[in-house]
Amino acid sequence: MKNILKSKYDLQQIRISGKITADVLKMIQPYIVPDISTKDINDICHNYITHVKKSIPACLGYNNFPKSICISVNDVVCHGIPNKKLFLKNGDIVNIDVSVIKNNYYADASKMFLVGLVTNKHKLLCKITQNSLYLSLKCVKHGVKINKIGYIIQKYVEKNKFSIVKEYCGHGIGKNFHELPYILHFYNKNDHTIMQKNMVFTIEPMVNEKSSHIQCMKDGWTVKTQDGGLSAQYEHTILVTDTGCEVITHQENEKIPKIFINI
Ligand code: MF3
Ligand code: CO
Repeated sequence: MKNILKSKYDLQQIRISGKITADVLKMIQPYIVPDISTKDINDICHNYITHVKKSIPACLGYNNFPKSICISVNDVVCHGIPNKKLFLKNGDIVNIDVSVIKNNYYADASKMFLVGLVTNKHKLLCKITQNSLYLSLKCVKHGVKINKIGYIIQKYVEKNKFSIVKEYCGHGIGKNFHELPYILHFYNKNDHTIMQKNMVFTIEPMVNEKSSHIQCMKDGWTVKTQDGGLSAQYEHTILVTDTGCEVITHQENEKIPKIFINI
């Protein structure tokens, strides 16, 4: 369980990585338009992370992942590989998942981008997914059981007639990309882990329009819905505090505070 609680120095460094991650998601926004290839989006992010931010894209080479970020379009649930033959088109919903390393510390965040005119149903899917993450942040605080996060997310998503992907979870993060504690996005009555001040972890619900079932493609990475329904995901890196939490990867244009006071 070592490293699960971060030191002051750890937190200073994680905040720097978090700001870089947030800046990548802001920088890429104007490029998410019809006819750009996902490889070109990858390359713009790669150059910004390496040249402007002097950082390392954490996905590149991670378990042999071949690109610098994940780009998951429509029925791709997660881990979409940027591809020079895949062009965005009007109506697509696109997740961009950015993880960076700066001074050996990681941060991780993702959000949805809407390309041109998106159907109301698919806009709703994105909004409910984002809201489920935002709602869960209101329960994060020292002393609260970690399984409350999944309880809130699952309840909200299912009330809205969408489904939660069960195979992937949030994770502790710091000097490692993925570490303890693991954060399920559905209720697990057997998880008695308690949130503690100075824990840092991601919350990253994946929400499907139809069934929650998924399948991995032969490339070993791309995960799609089984039924072809669309899928959305939002992710933040979060620091647990005495009074609530701090959204380490907060973006200026988000309609939530960077610091949550949950007392
Ligand atoms: N960013 C993903 C996460 O949230 C991990 C992607 S691993 C990769 O944990 F290799 F696909 F990049
Ligand atoms: Co993550």
